[in-house]
Amino acid sequence: MSKIRAQITATGMFVPERRVTNEDLETLVNTSDEWIQERTGILERRMVSDGQANSDLSAKAIENAFEGKDFVPEEIDLIIVATVTPDMMFPSTACLVQEKIGAKNAWGFDLSGACSGFLYALSTGAQFIQTGVHKKVLVVGTDVMSSILDFEDRKTCVLFGDGAGAVLLEPAQNNEEGIIDSLLHSDGSGGKFLYMPSGGSLHPTSHKTVDEKMHYVHQDGRNVFKFAVKLMTQVSHDILKKNGYTPEDISLFIPHQANLRIIQSAVKRLNLRPEQVAINIDRYANTTAATIPMALHEAYKQNRIKKGDLLLLASFGAGFTWGSVLLRWT
Ligand code: ACO
Repeated sequence: MSKIRAQITATGMFVPERRVTNEDLETLVNTSDEWIQERTGILERRMVSDGQANSDLSAKAIENAFEGKDFVPEEIDLIIVATVTPDMMFPSTACLVQEKIGAKNAWGFDLSGACSGFLYALSTGAQFIQTGVHKKVLVVGTDVMSSILDFEDRKTCVLFGDGAGAVLLEPAQNNEEGIIDSLLHSDGSGGKFLYMPSGGSLHPTSHKTVDEKMHYVHQDGRNVFKFAVKLMTQVSHDILKKNGYTPEDISLFIPHQANLRIIQSAVKRLNLRPEQVAINIDRYANTTAATIPMALHEAYKQNRIKKGDLLLLASFGAGFTWGSVLLRWT
């Protein structure tokens, strides 16, 4: 018997009101609007205000997904929050979100996959639909990267922003629609290129870890760049080939938004036309787990996605983690 497919039936997003431009960052570090635009494609990003946390952004993205719809929070079975910047180590952000949206009957957990977190979570959530265990699964990708950035390090602080994206997964009506396949990978040998050293059990927070700035993002940008282009392209090719499609069949490619040059290199290697690609890094920078659901939501709202379209989502991030998801929009 063939499995039930999972389909995305609602999308939403939320970004904090506070806009941080490249010019604003020029006042903090030795950088320039010209360098940031040329090297990354970023014009501005959003950042939280004091007291605004991951669960607030996540709850608002979910509320946005249900705007104008008959939303019964009690019907949600499961909430997965993909993030590397939870409100706190525990309880999970999923539990905090569950309470905020009143999803009394849901269970939930956080999933740590960095920039691939959303695709990992989407694929995990889809399994619960495919096996018939659940009927309504919320998958959220949210990061408050400003909480782990060193605003004295020009190599990292200009790259990231805060934001949240959410989707609802439900059973597809037939096996022509919904999530077709996913390919997910990890390679722990890449961990040393992008990480936050302290705050966990290896280096518990202490005066020393704070003095040494170990609670911030540390990145070897050049190496991350190189692997991102290679592996995001490869995993996109692989999923198309495995399912008998070519790049020409793709209606919209929604890549993780880490750097415009990474996206452009992958797009060139995949031989895609500009109108086949969703890009919003210029306005939000790299929001880690949130980039793909936010870009998906914006593309849908801009009428760039219609019923029957074939979408390819692809990501690359810390871990290393990378993956792709292929789906037929309903
Ligand atoms: N402003 C001005 N100059 C800068 C800045 C800045 N903000 N940042 C770096 N530079 C300088 C460097 O110091 C260097 O100067 P030097 O030659 O005198 O030492 C010069 O610019 C070139 O530096 P590179 O690191 O070679 O610059 P590059 O073109 O590689 O761009 C960047 C750097 C943007 C970080 C790029 O490597 C990149 O995007 N890498 C991938 C990042 C990424 O995708 N990260 C997220 C992964 S996802 C996740 O899981 C979170």
